[in-house]
Amino acid sequence: MSKYIIHQSGPLRGEVEISGSKNAVLPILAATLLVDELCEIYYVPRLLDVEVMCDILRSVGKIVETDWEAHTIRVIPGERTGSEVPHELVKRMRASIFVMGPLLVKTGYANISLPGGCSIGNRPIDLHNKGLRTLGAKIMSDGGRVEASAIYGLKGALVYLDFPSVGATENIMMAATLARGVTTIENAAEEPEIVDLANFLNKMGAKIKGAGTDTIKIEGVERLHGAKHTVIPDRIETGTFMVAAAITRGDLLIKNCVPDHVRPVIAKLIECGAIVNDEVDGLRVRGDINNLVATDIKTLPYPGFPTDMQAVFMALLTTVDGTSGVIETVFENRFMHASELSRMGANIRVEGRKAVVPGNKHKLVGASVIATDLRAGAALVLAGLVAKGTTELHEAQHIERGYENFPEKLNALGAKIERFED
Ligand code: EPZ
Repeated sequence: MSKYIIHQSGPLRGEVEISGSKNAVLPILAATLLVDELCEIYYVPRLLDVEVMCDILRSVGKIVETDWEAHTIRVIPGERTGSEVPHELVKRMRASIFVMGPLLVKTGYANISLPGGCSIGNRPIDLHNKGLRTLGAKIMSDGGRVEASAIYGLKGALVYLDFPSVGATENIMMAATLARGVTTIENAAEEPEIVDLANFLNKMGAKIKGAGTDTIKIEGVERLHGAKHTVIPDRIETGTFMVAAAITRGDLLIKNCVPDHVRPVIAKLIECGAIVNDEVDGLRVRGDINNLVATDIKTLPYPGFPTDMQAVFMALLTTVDGTSGVIETVFENRFMHASELSRMGANIRVEGRKAVVPGNKHKLVGASVIATDLRAGAALVLAGLVAKGTTELHEAQHIERGYENFPEKLNALGAKIERFED
């Protein structure tokens, strides 16, 4: 368990390099289960969740070599490919469900304990199951486990997703690469991580078209082969550092990012009065020019405002002039950070999926708070940088699941954060 002590810091200034995307590399690692050949993945962030996914691949027979100096992972075929993922690994990370589709279509069977819910919602997998059933799988999910079998393989079909679920789109897309015939996913998720996964699968010999739109066509093939791939930069880490520049009234150059992946965050920061310029070697964000003012945000599936940026942006909104409205439409319980921010003086009112956020530049005061999930944790770190006095953030290990070297990167820009084992 980690604890951060965050001291009120001045405006952050300087340059920061964005790491590879957590939410791209996790399904890409799962996709290596589709082949019995070497795969090499580059620009991999060193995160707890990535280490768990490597252990999951090892648990079903892969040899996984990590070279964190080079941010590279090599996945080498082992003697056999198992089909059962141990519970103690699944309960550590919900994204373990991404191995269900690949294991099922490669071995004809997958036995995974149900990924737990977490603080942001109960995280069902009904859309994953519906999609795989439509491709011909038999799925039994009782109390704590989901068992999927397809001894005669999978058959391409039309799959309509009731909600553009990122994970369900990824699981179904991976399974469909080795199904017989063509699969069409309608109302598919359009996130950049889906496009990155499709690019990796196509390098392995898959035939996928339309990733990044709401309709994805996958023509099944006999077999796939190993491939090498560099993952995209993490758009949520990018957005987090953009907000860090704004909330501290600083001036940051954010390098190794893809501005096109953070358009809603750019738009909202500009609405608040921040200056955002797409420069040659990165995105320059300045919160030190104009007085920052309130705006409203509503989270939506991509290309809407990302739910993973909601907590971090709310922290900013507690420090601007005026009252903002925040609506969370993707998860049913993603305002846990509001009560923690209120302990710091933010006085946020939550009613169902809407939060009313009064702003005030000088209101936040350091307090002892808890990170309820990785994005809430990041939000509380940023709030701690501008709050009077000192903030003690407990359960900070959540942050380390999804942000590579977060305190170190911030301290290099002028923050004062100390990390302790709690
Ligand atoms: C992915 O989770 C991301 N995780 C999440 O990031 C992100 O918040 C989410 O997509 C939305 O963008 C990874 O990629 C590892 P969903 P996922 O399926 O796939 C409901 C972070 O902070 N739903 O798009 O689990 C679900 O309950 C994490 O990095 C069903 O009802 O998200 C939720 O309300 C947090 N049935 C909504 O859809 C299903 O079968 C969106 O979930 C699946 C999902």
